[in-house]
Amino acid sequence: MEISVVSTRPFTDQKPGTSGVRKQVSRFRKTHYLENFVQSIFDSQKALAGAELILGGDGRFFNREAVQIILRMAAANGTRKVTVGRGGILSTPAASHLIRTRHAAGGIVLSASHNPGGPTGDFGIKFNVANGGPAPESVTAAIHAASLKMTHYRIAGAPHIDIDHVGHQTLGEMEVEVVDPVTDYADLMESLFDFPAMRALVRSGGFGMRFDAMHAVTGPYAIEILEERLGAAPGTVMRKEPLADFGGRHPDPNLSHARELGELMFGRDAPDFGAASDGDGDRNMILGRGFFVSPSDSLAVMAANAHLIPAYRDGLKGVARSMPTSQAIDAVAEAMGIPCYETPTGWKFFGNLLDDGRITLCGEESFGTSSDHVREKDGLWAVLFWLNLIAARGQPVTEIVRDHWQRFGRHYYTRHDYEEIDSGRAETLMDRLRAALPSLPGRQFGSLQVRAADDFSYTDPVDGSISSGQGLRILFEDGARIVFRLSGTGTQGATLRVYLERHETRPDQLDEDTQAALAPLIELAEEVADIRNQAGKEAPDVIT
Ligand code: G1P
Ligand code: ZN
Repeated sequence: MEISVVSTRPFTDQKPGTSGVRKQVSRFRKTHYLENFVQSIFDSQKALAGAELILGGDGRFFNREAVQIILRMAAANGTRKVTVGRGGILSTPAASHLIRTRHAAGGIVLSASHNPGGPTGDFGIKFNVANGGPAPESVTAAIHAASLKMTHYRIAGAPHIDIDHVGHQTLGEMEVEVVDPVTDYADLMESLFDFPAMRALVRSGGFGMRFDAMHAVTGPYAIEILEERLGAAPGTVMRKEPLADFGGRHPDPNLSHARELGELMFGRDAPDFGAASDGDGDRNMILGRGFFVSPSDSLAVMAANAHLIPAYRDGLKGVARSMPTSQAIDAVAEAMGIPCYETPTGWKFFGNLLDDGRITLCGEESFGTSSDHVREKDGLWAVLFWLNLIAARGQPVTEIVRDHWQRFGRHYYTRHDYEEIDSGRAETLMDRLRAALPSLPGRQFGSLQVRAADDFSYTDPVDGSISSGQGLRILFEDGARIVFRLSGTGTQGATLRVYLERHETRPDQLDEDTQAALAPLIELAEEVADIRNQAGKEAPDVIT
């Protein structure tokens, strides 16, 4: 096998964001672009030499080409073995699971998550470490540093490698094992949940369910788990064929992108339970009949009911949420007498807490929840958790959530996204707001009094690392909050995210419209940040 050493020059835009490097496909197809980043991984992660690497992605456009390139580069960089999902496919949680069960030194996951795919869409690549989770900041910083001094990359000359049949082959000295992407993951799910009870529920004539795979990676996983193993009616999984461009739509599980599912669930004769996952299978949306479960509420309900699920029968060690996620789970943790950690946005910050045994369950407002069974958020896991809960409690989704609100109060919560803002203007908006923060504490806005205002900084309790500049917070005396941060996953301009929340405990005030219930806070956010003038935006582009 011939190894070429190819001269190249650094690209200055390969700093991993919230979740790896995400760019438009056209950028990734630039000569040497992908190769440079992959070589940066091998250059900075010496543990990969002589070890096993897991490789797979969500099947989007450019996934197959990227897999071929990475296999040849792994062989040229001394990797002992690469385990790759058949067809180059692995959902993000399935990749995390394989890294863990195979004791691999790490994994390369190819995905731009819920961003659109196809030749004019996005692509992404991220490195996961040996615990199965996204690389922590120290590792992404080392990869970035290596990318900035890149002078050459190594690649093996090899014919096309067959990734479409399960089995073993060699590439020079390196072993390549192609595995079924679904089986191990489906077995893991079966080990966590009460499949007999769930089977009885979905097979009972009275229960209807739909899962929208959004033409993304979870199609084959959902067919195997929901239709084959649990016996749900054929057709339960909608948009089940993975497509390289996700059928031209965003594989983003919310009510605008999972429109058909939403129409079904809010229409006449709606099924009892509806759910969806995203491009790479780590996000989830949960719906009851005519009812949307906010991701923050979903996390809190899961924590409060975890003892009903076989895997969590003995209770939770602790829980965690990302800072902008609502405080609904804090209330549950307090009642249960377990710790609740507040981390910056991004799954990588949960890794240490999970590895150290401090938490069992964690989640983010951005439709992500998971537990210590993997080191990524896990879309189908969340769907199965809810299904198990419905079976165990014998109640529909709506009742489960309403009971929860009666017990803990309701944390009205919304996120407003302002997309494709000029990056300079977005930075200026944040700078001005940051400068104004010290003047806010003690100020009264209508019935709201500011208790504190800061730029969120996190000290990891396990390794002591500090992550600062993680979002501007305005905290009110009554527990309400407004948080401002810029997205770290966007690929065009800047996206401003404004997160708004308030806690309501009056029993007759728990069924209000979310936007109406938060209207005073929404107005206040505009007043303090001057979004209209600073960002040139009349209204948010997306409200979740
Ligand atoms: C977004 C979400 C964040 C999530 C990340 C990866 O990041 O807000 O919670 O972890 O996608 O799925 P952002 O674009 O806000 O940086
Ligand atoms: Zn995702």
